[in-house]
Amino acid sequence: MAETTENSSEEMILTFADFSNVSMFYINGVGEITLHSGGHNPEDRSFIRSEDLKKIFSGQSINLEHQDPSGNRFFVIGQPIYKDHTVSSAIYVMASTQSMDKSLAAVRNLLILSGIGAFLFAIGITWIMALLFSRPLILMQKATKKIAIGELETRLEIHSKDEIGDLAVAINNLASDLQRYRDTRQEFFANISHELRTPITYLKGYAKVVKNHLYETEEEKDRYLDIIYQEGIRIQHLVDDLFELAKMEEGKVSLYMDRVDLKDIITFAVQKVALKAKDKGLELVVHPSASDSIIRGDSMQVEQIVLNLLENAIRYTEQGTIQIYMRSTFDTVSFTVEDTGIGIPEDELPYIFDRFYRVEKSRSRETGGTGLGLSIVKKLVKLQGGTIQVSSKEGIGTCFTVQFALRTMQEE
Ligand SMILES: Nc1ncnc2c1ncn2[C@@H]1O[C@H](COP(=O)(O)OP(=O)(O)OP(=O)(O)O)[C@@H](O)[C@H]1O
Ligand SMILES: [Mg+2]
Repeated sequence: MAETTENSSEEMILTFADFSNVSMFYINGVGEITLHSGGHNPEDRSFIRSEDLKKIFSGQSINLEHQDPSGNRFFVIGQPIYKDHTVSSAIYVMASTQSMDKSLAAVRNLLILSGIGAFLFAIGITWIMALLFSRPLILMQKATKKIAIGELETRLEIHSKDEIGDLAVAINNLASDLQRYRDTRQEFFANISHELRTPITYLKGYAKVVKNHLYETEEEKDRYLDIIYQEGIRIQHLVDDLFELAKMEEGKVSLYMDRVDLKDIITFAVQKVALKAKDKGLELVVHPSASDSIIRGDSMQVEQIVLNLLENAIRYTEQGTIQIYMRSTFDTVSFTVEDTGIGIPEDELPYIFDRFYRVEKSRSRETGGTGLGLSIVKKLVKLQGGTIQVSSKEGIGTCFTVQFALRTMQEE
C-alpha cells in the first residue's frame, strides 16, 4: 500500500495502524516524516537514526527496541518502500510491548496460580486417599484391640469388595470363632463342674454315713459302700470321656489309619458287651450281610464307636433284642444298631449328640450315663470320614446307622 502514492492508501494505512494498535511513521526520500499515525507521541523520534535510514534506503530492513521518555517500550521495524525498483521512502512501524508484557505477566501469573492450585489439589487428593485408606485400618486396629481385651462381640462394619474388606471379614470371623469358643468353653466347664459335683456329693454323703456308723445292718453298710464304689467308677468314666473329648476338640487325637475290617470289629465289640446284655436278659443278634467290609480307619476308635452305640442300646433297653446289621454298596459300608428300648422323643433327637445331653436327666443318672458317649461317637465318625444317622420311636426302639467309605482294592 505504501508503494502506491495515492491518498486513499495513505488513509488505509492510517486506519490499519489504528486497528492494529501500532504507530507508523512514513519517511520520504529526503528524510522527512510525511505521515504519522498511532498512539505514539510523534515528538519522540529518537528511534529514527540516520544510520538506520541509510540502511533502509540501501534496501535493508531494520528492527530495534525503543524506550520512549515516559518509559514505554516498543518494537520498531523499519522497512524500505520501493518505487520503480528503487527505494523511494521508508516506513517505521512500532508496536508497544506493553500488551505483550501484560500477556506474558498474565501467563506467568496463570502458571504460578495453576502450579499452586495443582500443588494444593495434589495435597488434598493425597489427604483424602490417606483418609480413605487409613480409616478402615484405624477401625480394624481399634476392633482388634477390643477383641484382644475380651470384647468378643466387636464386629467391623466394612463391606468393601477389596483386600481391606476381606481382612475385615477375616477379623469378624475370628471374633465370632473366639466368641463361640469362649461360650462353649464356659458351657463345657459349667457342665463338667456340675457332673463332677453330683457324684462327689454322693461319695461324701455315703462315706460320712459309713464313717460315723450311721447304718443299722451290715447289709445297709454294704449297699452304701457299693454306691461309693459305683460313684467312683462313674467319676473315672467321666474323667476318661472328658479327656478323650478334650483331646479330640483340640485336634490332638492321633488316629492310626489303616485297613480295618468292620465285620471283625463288630464281632469283637459284641463279644465284649455280651455279658452286660445277658445280665439284663437281652438278646444280641448280628446279621453280617455285607459282602465287603474293609474300611480305612483306626481300629481302636472304630471299636469305640461300636461299643458306645452297643452300650447305649443295652442301657436304654429293658427287654427285647438288640440287632446289628451290616450293609455295603459299591463304595460304602454301614452298620446299624437297632434296639427295642425306650426310644428318644422326636424333638430331642437333634440334641443327643451334644455334650452332656441326656434325654431324661434322671433316667440316665440311675444308669450311670454322663451324656458324653454320643458326642464322642459323632466326633470319631467325622474324624474317620464317616456319617451317623439316628431314627427313634418312643417306646418302640432306636436305630443308629454309621456309614464309612469302602476301601477298594485300587487304593492299596
Ligand atoms: N439307644 C438308645 N435308646 C434310647 N435313648 C438313647 C439311646 N442312645 C442314647 N440315648 C439317649 O441319648 C442320651 C445321650 O447318649 P450318650 O451316649 O451321649 O450319653 P449317656 O449314654 O447318657 O452317657 P455316656 O457318656 O456314659 O454314654 C442318653 O442319655 C439317652 O437319653
Ligand atoms: Mg452312652
